[in-house]
Amino acid sequence: MWSKASRQPVPRIIKASREHLFTSEQGYKGSRVIAVSSGKGGVGKTSLVVNLGITLASLGQRVVIFDADLGMANAEVMMGITPHYTLFDCVYGHKDIEDVIIPGPLGVQLVSGGSGFLELANLDGSRRQQLVDSLSYFDRESDFLLIDTGAGISKNVLGFVAAASEVIVVITPEPTSLADAYSLIKVLAMFKVHSEVMIVVNKAGDEREARRTAQKIESLVEQFLQIRISSIGWIVEDKLVTQAVKSQEPFSLFHPNSQPGLSITKIARRLISGQQDEGPAVENGARGFIRRLTRLFG
Ligand SMILES: Nc1ncnc2c1ncn2[C@@H]1O[C@H](COP(=O)(O)OP(=O)(O)O)[C@@H](O)[C@H]1O
Ligand SMILES: [Mg+2]
Repeated sequence: MWSKASRQPVPRIIKASREHLFTSEQGYKGSRVIAVSSGKGGVGKTSLVVNLGITLASLGQRVVIFDADLGMANAEVMMGITPHYTLFDCVYGHKDIEDVIIPGPLGVQLVSGGSGFLELANLDGSRRQQLVDSLSYFDRESDFLLIDTGAGISKNVLGFVAAASEVIVVITPEPTSLADAYSLIKVLAMFKVHSEVMIVVNKAGDEREARRTAQKIESLVEQFLQIRISSIGWIVEDKLVTQAVKSQEPFSLFHPNSQPGLSITKIARRLISGQQDEGPAVENGARGFIRRLTRLFG
């Protein structure tokens, strides 16, 4: 299963305190559900999700990666693992959530959404409840649920992004990536689900180019859209990243002190220290996520 990276010594995972999950005024919070999306494909969403997941885990966070790029089994390939079931087998195949979850490096868990999610609209009440119950598992067992969505503004992608309580849009310095990211953020601003969108600039030549790219999209969004935008980091274009994808050995695991590895650590620390976006989306956690998802697809 987790063959290649098991060569690495696996640090002890520090169980993060779950106290923050319960606050008297706000009630149950659950895990932080963060969708990672983009306007254009091939910008590095899956690479970010996998390496961010591993880095968050190395910082003591419990992480589940949810592969929602339907039909593109990306995260699992990058991690060199093979899931046998998808979340939909919990609903239709009478599998337990534990059978569907695949253990990855540093305790990161991977769940494949599977193309069955397109059938969410047709779920009857009890099956829908089954799915909500399955997802509640993540609120108990994870601090971060990272969702790798597809690219663009199809109903599928938007459903996952809108249902998540936080969203990261990955952009690259290419003008097409910027234009498509703006289109995606525009639709998100219309949904009014999130009060803020985070951006990560990937494949930047250097810090200056990353900053210029971030400033371009920030000024467009601030000028024309009713949504806050904040840049949470950048990653250099580095052949180490491509090699890591080819060898199915995530760079954050094998080269945590490389430039891309250190950049991901900065992003992870920023996420941990940042507050969960308390936007108009009322119910947080995986439970809130799946409720909104079924409503949006339904
Ligand atoms: N920082 C980077 N430097 C160099 N290549 C990168 C970087 N990030 C991603 N890539 C490469 O870009 C390609 C697409 O990445 P991927 O994560 O699959 O994108 P997406 O999920 O957005 O489609 C992969 O071949 C990957 O190796
Ligand atoms: Mg991908």
